[in-house]
Amino acid sequence: MSLATVTCIEDLREIARRRVPRAFFDYAAAGSYSQQTLRANREDLERIKLRQRVLIDVSQRDLATRILGEPAQLPLVLAPIGLCGMQHGDGEILACRAAHAAGIPFTLSTMSICSIEDVAQAVGTPFWFQLYVMRDRGFIRSLVERAAAAKCSALVLTVDLQVLGQRHCDVRNGMTVPPRITLANVIDVASKPAWALSILRGRRKTFGNLAGHVHGMENVNSLAQWTNSQFDPALSWKDVEWIRSIWSGKLVLKGILDVEDAKAAAQTGAQAIVVSNHGGRQLDGAPSSISALPRIAEAVGGDIEVMFDGGIRTGQDILRALALGAHSCMIGRSYVWGLGAAGEEGVAKAIDILAKELDVAMALTGTRSVRELERGVIAQG
Ligand SMILES: Cc1cc2nc3c(=O)[nH]c(=O)nc-3n(C[C@H](O)[C@H](O)[C@H](O)COP(=O)(O)O)c2cc1C
Repeated sequence: MSLATVTCIEDLREIARRRVPRAFFDYAAAGSYSQQTLRANREDLERIKLRQRVLIDVSQRDLATRILGEPAQLPLVLAPIGLCGMQHGDGEILACRAAHAAGIPFTLSTMSICSIEDVAQAVGTPFWFQLYVMRDRGFIRSLVERAAAAKCSALVLTVDLQVLGQRHCDVRNGMTVPPRITLANVIDVASKPAWALSILRGRRKTFGNLAGHVHGMENVNSLAQWTNSQFDPALSWKDVEWIRSIWSGKLVLKGILDVEDAKAAAQTGAQAIVVSNHGGRQLDGAPSSISALPRIAEAVGGDIEVMFDGGIRTGQDILRALALGAHSCMIGRSYVWGLGAAGEEGVAKAIDILAKELDVAMALTGTRSVRELERGVIAQG
């Protein structure tokens, strides 16, 4: 299958499955434990039916909006993805370019392969930076300073990963960075030459933001082991205050799923929250993001910008989330699969697919602008 015949995100997923080594493909696709929350994210979105409206003049449709006060061509942001650069060499740079070409923000993960400086230098336009708070607060301060020096236009503080949910496949696949050399891995990589070449040509093979900065990283051999040793279970609202005090730019709190937490987040001086369960990768058994969204939007939507992620695979899903109170959406796997399938072009394709689907869904629900989407487009009963 070539990009020309790709019709939907599922097609990109299928190409990525064939091109990306199994350990990295599984790492991206999986959820934690029994994957109930991962499945619920999709099932609950699909359950929401849309009102088919007719004989409304929808010849002029507008998908543009503002996100954190800045103009965006679509109500969409590329979510932070750890190890993005292992789906395709220089993956973060390619995804950032595709996002900016489409007029939407890109978020670089703390756990990226290309560093903040790599992306800033290669792309030249401001991107968002996602922060995980680790035990070493001096290192966190320096990361925030590096993001400011690179002119990152927002800091996304992820608050739902104080401890790491287990993905069984990562344990089975011996998920390490750089990849562990086992016979199975060697055979797998040998059958994925295009991927191997892109990684060889990429600027880095390990965590670009951390390598050479974090003490002890050299001595652990599994990602989960290292993450567990570095991520801070003591993280609290006090740390949000501290981050707020050392970052003067726009702040987004990502990983809010509960109304009480959303209310507290709205008091922190952050500009936005992301209603998210980390793509079903953390608390297995947590509700789907879409089921949590309406109550949170109702409680704090007037006080803070509400973003949404979890399970978006179609433009119709974006429409559903906006109708239920989200101001914009983040996508994770939908663009990761585009990246694995065809690098920058694949990410551009993923964004284009979602935009076209959203556009048609707007027309067929009688909606002229993404800014006027509300509950009226959801079919009752
Ligand atoms: C492979 C992968 C890596 C991720 N890494 C991070 C990360 O480094 N930081 C973060 O805040 N969220 C991370 N997430 C969560 C995403 O930012 C986002 O919340 C999630 O992917 C949304 O669900 P979706 O993939 O169904 O769109 C990751 C998700 C995936 C699939």
